[in-house]
Amino acid sequence: MYDTKSDQMYRFMENEESEGQPRSNQAPRTLISMENIWKTYQMGVEQLHALRDVSFQVEKGEYLAIIGPSGSGKSTLMNLIGCLDSPSKGNYWINGNLVSDMTDDELARIRNKEIGFVFQTFNLLARATALHNVELPLIYAGMRAAERHEKAMQALESVELGDRVGHKPNELSGGQRQRVAIARALVNHPSILLADEPTGALDTKTSYEIMELFEKLHQEGNTIILVTHEHDIAERAHRIITIRDGKIEKDEKTK
Ligand SMILES: Nc1ncnc2c1ncn2[C@@H]1O[C@H](COP(=O)(O)OP(=O)(O)OP(=O)(O)O)[C@@H](O)[C@H]1O
Ligand SMILES: [Mg+2]
Repeated sequence: MYDTKSDQMYRFMENEESEGQPRSNQAPRTLISMENIWKTYQMGVEQLHALRDVSFQVEKGEYLAIIGPSGSGKSTLMNLIGCLDSPSKGNYWINGNLVSDMTDDELARIRNKEIGFVFQTFNLLARATALHNVELPLIYAGMRAAERHEKAMQALESVELGDRVGHKPNELSGGQRQRVAIARALVNHPSILLADEPTGALDTKTSYEIMELFEKLHQEGNTIILVTHEHDIAERAHRIITIRDGKIEKDEKTK
């Protein structure tokens, strides 16, 4: 299912280059570049800094875990990476493009085509089959029925759910539901897979199965950023960023 991915990626990057002047001096493989990012909420008279001066880069093909205690800013950071929210201060480049310069259309395209999201609580449509759930992003992308059916089937097969495509979420186990959510995140061949506590609602054994799937997806060339507060889950990644009180405390390569 991944043959078109490098193609799409290439086209995406080529577009950026054809825009002329690069806005930063990053290496071309840099997928994400955050520079002095702040996220501040005004709570009455008080300011709450959910992120304080966060800077880091992620290259294409990395497998990164973000770890930190509850309230440290992990989800806030993921929402910024996924272009679901914007920073109060600082610059964020995705594939060399400054996100704050993007039009609403460009942002919508990035969210739909370049980023795949996986959440702790799966966020599947309860009354739709696994197949229909995975087809949804393709429906939004305007793909015709036969093609999207085939792509959704391929995505479900890649997470080993080819034999459960007609099941609704309540007819699936927790691990299977999360695999449907992962298939949905991958069906558009995004540049980045973002997962916020993907094993948070699963038992230990099922968590490990999901982590094995992430490992396989990484080996197939996907860029993965995963939030967790469990060390044994984070250790599966190849790089770990620790955040505390909205600041990066540690950024280490582990493999
Ligand atoms: N919309 C908001 N308005 C005000 N404060 C917010 C908002 N969203 C998050 N915060 C605050 O920002 C801080 C970081 O929240 P965030 O959700 O990023 O934490 P987290 O690291 O994901 O925690 P958890 O592990 O519990 O999911 C918290 O103190 C939270 O209360
Ligand atoms: Mg969170």
